[in-house]
Amino acid sequence: MTIETYIDTRSSRPAHVHERPRQRAEAKSHSAGFADEHKFLTLNVRLADGSQFKCEAAEGFRVMELIRAYGLPIKAECGGAGVCATCHVRVPDAWQALLPAPSDDELAKLDEVPGADDRSRLACQIEMTQALDGLELVLDPESLVPQTIWAAG
Ligand code: FES
Repeated sequence: MTIETYIDTRSSRPAHVHERPRQRAEAKSHSAGFADEHKFLTLNVRLADGSQFKCEAAEGFRVMELIRAYGLPIKAECGGAGVCATCHVRVPDAWQALLPAPSDDELAKLDEVPGADDRSRLACQIEMTQALDGLELVLDPESLVPQTIWAAG
């Protein structure tokens, strides 16, 4: 008696449960397809105190959403509508050329932010793409929710 036969006679499950290896293979190839379509990228976020966080990122998501999903306390008070400027980040020069140019509305909003400079962007207006894999940015201290204890990751 093979193990499979033993299971057949003892199990109340229908016979098709023994198709599991094939189903697993199909599921695996299906999930591989998902992984191919949705490659995970990296977003490197630094805070003003020098602490750094490597966030997993997915193409098509806004950088603000990725920072928030990681657990960093970004204010982002308008939820990504582009009207609060509390998702202010600075992008190092090396990455500037890879970013799409800011819209007139984003530039107008950044004009209202004290201390904003040429490297300033609104994280909610940057969409993650393959070209931005490894993107580095610094989260402005004014865009952090004030709190004494928090954990990320
Ligand atoms: S979340 Fe409000 S402007 Fe980005």
